[in-house]
Amino acid sequence: MEKRKIILDCDPGHDDAIAIMLAGKSSAIDLLGITVVAGNQTLDKTLNNALHVCQYLGLDVPVYKGCGQPMIREKQVIAPEIHGESGLDGPQFSALTKKAEQQHAVNYIIDTLLASDGDITLVPTGPMTNVAMAMRLCPDILPKIREIVLMGGSYQLGNMTPAAEFNILVDADAAHVVFTSGRKITMVGLDVTRKVLCLPSVVERMGQIDNKAAKLFVDLMTFFNKTQKEIFGWAGAPLHDPVTIASLLDPTLLTTKECFTQIDIRSEQSYGRTNCDLFNMLKQPPNSFVAVDINVARFWDIIEGGIKNYS
Ligand code: RIB
Ligand code: CA
Repeated sequence: MEKRKIILDCDPGHDDAIAIMLAGKSSAIDLLGITVVAGNQTLDKTLNNALHVCQYLGLDVPVYKGCGQPMIREKQVIAPEIHGESGLDGPQFSALTKKAEQQHAVNYIIDTLLASDGDITLVPTGPMTNVAMAMRLCPDILPKIREIVLMGGSYQLGNMTPAAEFNILVDADAAHVVFTSGRKITMVGLDVTRKVLCLPSVVERMGQIDNKAAKLFVDLMTFFNKTQKEIFGWAGAPLHDPVTIASLLDPTLLTTKECFTQIDIRSEQSYGRTNCDLFNMLKQPPNSFVAVDINVARFWDIIEGGIKNYS
């Protein structure tokens, strides 16, 4: 089977780190590059974290530094209450030797897409500043994007405000650019990621695997579970970002509904909301496949398989 070529655009972040882990050694995915954006923490920290995860896992994947602030809004929102001061609190890494590439992430996205046969999937798991900037800087990349599978949004409750999910809220203008790009979008929102809670029994299951990836998983999720319980009361943290990668590994994993999704970039109260018109009340052409359900057992089997790919 031909490998699915992807660019993972992320803001590590505990769940981003698991997404890197899942994609990194998969026989079904060709992880061309990792582009990093400010999100869970400031850009210097999210970049550092991406480099540490790749170095620890022995992934020879190029990492590119991207945008450090949203396209337009002044306020930079980060999530130390969830991911800690480093953005990846919990694991202890050895001294960092892996370096980021010289090229800016936005230029890497543009150059890679323009040189491709239109067979690259973009997987944003953080605020979509890098992707949106690439689209605006070079609209010629649009027909070259095979599809976009993103973690973000919610047609139900948000997690930063009652209305908005973090990745969208941090840069709602960027999300608007992406959702109006005309490219095929699969939106993996909180609606399904809140169904894959990394319960203590899951941490224990993955901890039985005797390799470095399992140890990283346990160290990451032990911290992530603690903060998510403190803030949301979850028995386990929703493992948001890896759902994107898992859905590429098993196209039957998600149940999606095609609909028109609009990003609220105007209001105060609901700024950053993904308004998913699941009942087609607005009679607008659909622009997204919104995930409405997930095969939970299958997801954890995929995670277990991804961890076992490491020595
Ligand atoms: O709302 C959850 C999303 O925001 C995840 O991608 C998490 O890593 C943060 O980026
Ligand atoms: Ca993320």
